[in-house]
Amino acid sequence: MKGFLNEILRGLRACPKYLPAKYFYDETGDRLFQQIMSSPEYYLTRCEYEIFSLKTPAIADLLQSHLPLFDLVELGAGDCLKSRFLLKELVHRNLSFTFYPVDISANVIEQLTQTLPEAIPGLKLHGLNGEYLAMLEKARQLSDRPKVVLFLGANIGNLEKDQTGIFLAQIRATLKKGDLLCIGFDLKKDPDIILSAYNDKAGLTRAFNLNLLKRINREFEADFDLTAFKHFPVYDPVSGACRSFLISLKQQRVNMKTAGESFCFEPYEPVFMEISQKYSRDEILALALTSGFRPLTTFCDSKHWFGDAIWEVDDK
Ligand SMILES: C[S@@+](CC[C@H](N)C(=O)[O-])C[C@H]1O[C@@H](n2cnc3c(N)ncnc32)[C@H](O)[C@@H]1O
Repeated sequence: MKGFLNEILRGLRACPKYLPAKYFYDETGDRLFQQIMSSPEYYLTRCEYEIFSLKTPAIADLLQSHLPLFDLVELGAGDCLKSRFLLKELVHRNLSFTFYPVDISANVIEQLTQTLPEAIPGLKLHGLNGEYLAMLEKARQLSDRPKVVLFLGANIGNLEKDQTGIFLAQIRATLKKGDLLCIGFDLKKDPDIILSAYNDKAGLTRAFNLNLLKRINREFEADFDLTAFKHFPVYDPVSGACRSFLISLKQQRVNMKTAGESFCFEPYEPVFMEISQKYSRDEILALALTSGFRPLTTFCDSKHWFGDAIWEVDDK
């Protein structure tokens, strides 16, 4: 809670202002994100769903050929829509493993703990509620088996490009030689297709962004007027960065009682909300090599819009 408040304050005091997207996910945010995933514009989930529904036996073969025994950690597990194909396959193969879903949303971990072992009889699950790296370290302490880490849904794209290599090197440092990482990348494609995924006609992404202001109002006694902000996504085909902003539609002051602070917004002042970085194949390869991984293979959907890359932890 203290960390959440401090990060929100840091973002609202900054120039230009920003809010950390990891806090989108309260109960309402989790539900909105599930609706986004099934919206016609949000191709990412459909592409990765295709990969896991059709290629899970090949993915499982690859994992087993490298690691006869392992535990599975999923960073930012969400509702495990795609990973459950793999979980079912591994249970079906009678593989002994524990599944550690990691998520910053307590609601997500609660839901998975309640529903997943019922949906996949025989699954051993140990949910970890918290941040990616801290929870990966916890999973490592809980079991000394080799690890297969899933990081799906293009969550990696929510990091700025200059932070991505650092983050991957931190994951690498928590793992042992031979451990595997399966990481979902959204690939560069027609800019119109990309932009519409973050600007759906039903207004779900808009509601998802505004929900963070609602959450701040509720948890920190703030008075954001949700009608005075407009959702505005942009895509830069050169850098591959798709960025979402909330734009203040007027001059306004927002008070936050819990912090005893208020924040002024100029007319049309942007608040940066989230990056969704898109990658070329060469950029993905370079990222693996510079962060200490050996790329094994990449599973793609039939349109080649999305790739799940499998990397092995290389020598130090
Ligand atoms: C975009 S959703 C993707 C969910 C899932 N991986 C999928 O592919 O459908 C991101 C998930 O990561 C979680 N998350 C975001 N930032 C996180 C962080 N820093 N640490 C742990 N979980 C995080 C969110 O709560 C959410 O469930």
